[in-house]
Amino acid sequence: MSLFQQPAKIKLAVLASGAGTNLEAIIDAAKKESFPAFVGVVVSDNQSAGALKRARHHRVPAVFIDPKLFGSRKDYDQMLIATLKEYKAEFIILAGFMRILSSLFVQMFSKHILNIHPSLLPKYPGLSAVQRALEAGEKETGCTVHYVDEGVDTGPVVLQQTVPILPDDTVERLHQRIHEAEHKLYPKAIESVILKDNLRHADHV
Ligand code: GRF
Repeated sequence: MSLFQQPAKIKLAVLASGAGTNLEAIIDAAKKESFPAFVGVVVSDNQSAGALKRARHHRVPAVFIDPKLFGSRKDYDQMLIATLKEYKAEFIILAGFMRILSSLFVQMFSKHILNIHPSLLPKYPGLSAVQRALEAGEKETGCTVHYVDEGVDTGPVVLQQTVPILPDDTVERLHQRIHEAEHKLYPKAIESVILKDNLRHADHV
């Protein structure tokens, strides 16, 4: 590699079940030449996920894998792994993917999977995290990007952003502000992990 060549961007697979606003934020961030990754495929377990529509809009391959066709989590994950390998995904980004991944999957992509969660982990892991923080009378909550291990929202934290809880907040309003924080935090966390773990390879001309 000459002094003037950038190392190649690494190929991300984004797994999402819902609206895909985090996906959109990552695709946007990746348009910057200096961003060390690009979204190479989006996979969903929900045929009508906004994330799939957003992927198609940006001409990113969008793949639906129907959970109804598989008898067990392991069978589903085997298809997921085969798909990610077919697309040569190098790093996995969970962005509102509503399935718990099997150990098979987690071990296959060990230390190469990130997730974003709408709370300041280790507080409020699992479902309804925004509502539970609000109902508990917290003064602040936020979002966390973390590596995925075999537990639910338990892997090592990469970055967190605090979001204050306002006196008249509803779950919807609070979640909206957490979402806005997530859209900045996730690209920043992806960039920092790829650079820190030195994941890029110098193989493009
Ligand atoms: C986000 O709030 C994220 O924290 C959670 O799922 C939501 C996904 O939202 N894991 P979107 O589909 O990216 O809009």
